[in-house]
Amino acid sequence: MSNNVTADICGKATNINRSLVLSKVLEPDAAEHLFESLLPDMVQLALRASELCTKPIPLLKAGMNHSITMSQEQVACLLANAFFCTFPRRNSRKTEYSNYPDINFFRLFEGSSAKKTEKLKTLMCYFNSVTEKMPTGLVTFTRKSLNKPPNWKSSQTPLTKLHITCEGTIEDDGYGMLQVDFANQFVGGGVTGSGLVQEEIRFLINPELIVSRLFTEALDHNECLIITGTQQYSKYTGYAQTYQWGGSRLDTTPSDGWQRRCTTIVAIDALQFRNFLEQFQPDRLNRELNKAYCGFACPEEKSQNLSAVATGNWGCGVFGGDTRLKALLQMLAAAEAGRDVAYFTFGDSQLMTDVHNMHSFLIQKNISVGKAYDLLGQYYSSECKNCLGRRPDVSLYSFIYQQVNSSLAPDDSNMGSARQHAPTDCH
Ligand code: APR
Repeated sequence: MSNNVTADICGKATNINRSLVLSKVLEPDAAEHLFESLLPDMVQLALRASELCTKPIPLLKAGMNHSITMSQEQVACLLANAFFCTFPRRNSRKTEYSNYPDINFFRLFEGSSAKKTEKLKTLMCYFNSVTEKMPTGLVTFTRKSLNKPPNWKSSQTPLTKLHITCEGTIEDDGYGMLQVDFANQFVGGGVTGSGLVQEEIRFLINPELIVSRLFTEALDHNECLIITGTQQYSKYTGYAQTYQWGGSRLDTTPSDGWQRRCTTIVAIDALQFRNFLEQFQPDRLNRELNKAYCGFACPEEKSQNLSAVATGNWGCGVFGGDTRLKALLQMLAAAEAGRDVAYFTFGDSQLMTDVHNMHSFLIQKNISVGKAYDLLGQYYSSECKNCLGRRPDVSLYSFIYQQVNSSLAPDDSNMGSARQHAPTDCH
């Protein structure tokens, strides 16, 4: 690394000393540790870039099906550089990287909100851990595109199993499963800025995910990013405005033959809906089904070897989607991909009951992926198309119960209203 970059990093470290919001909130001994030992160690780590990253890092550009594997040490060095904002031409939207997420952390040092303080505490926990004891594993980043979507209408595929609960979270209870990141097309979303919901939290507690922002171009509609091997370094409490760093976490997840932690996360970005009805339009349904399928499918693997998908209200928070529709779409995509589903409703017990009952009903009536897809199309044509902006009188799930029951013998007609026991009670 050239001398002027060295000076640049040291200069930035001094600036950060002054501006770092942490200095105002840390206990004196923690502040002393930060400035006397951690920041200097991070500077040394950042300065090792030319030693650790001997070749230019390839870009995972739009349309590429490509993987990058790097050591956790290389990741740590790159993230230390991101902390000191040394990546050139990455601070403005006018450069050749305008279609890439921000990587330099400068926005984290702007202002002094409680959210940014907690984000910085989480990131410093990571840097503290890796400068004390450098991890020795690898992390793989795979960009994947879906060039031949399934023929949803003609699919005879049966639904797979569903475990649904309103307790727990994807990261705490999705061990060994394909864990969904409710992404932005710019992976990581607002993690280096002010965002602090599902994706940003995951990128903060597994900070090795953040390095994907250095080389992953914005995801296209038929693309996803799969990251295998990241470690969780922090615990947290709360969510969004109430998020708080919850201390360091020792990740005991076993590693695979490639020395990668057996944690696989798939970033899929849902569409954002400002109008409730838009998401029921056939082209929107297809886009969401194909996006989820792109993330879930692993055609080279036999279905019986595929882990379940650990997911939840994908696209139904910031992006304004309908939880019951998205739950059904993800069940269809997972079934077509040959995977079971573990669905975390994040405390919504009614959603858990409704989705559980719908899944049981569709299984009981042998409704295939194609038949369910057809019912979605019927719902749009008969209940949504002429709604003129107001919400349909009949909900999607009521419509499905009615349609399936009316197409069967009369003695089955009470099935749709049958309320089965919920798998677990939530308070
Ligand atoms: N586990 C399971 N479910 C969760 C978790 C979790 N750890 N965290 C949140 N949820 C549930 C909540 O119910 C939340 O409302 O997922 C819902 C959707 O979360 P969002 O993050 O709002 O996801 P989305 O609507 O897809 O918005 C994506 O937000 O984080 C940014 O970068 C991201 O720009 C993108 C947008």
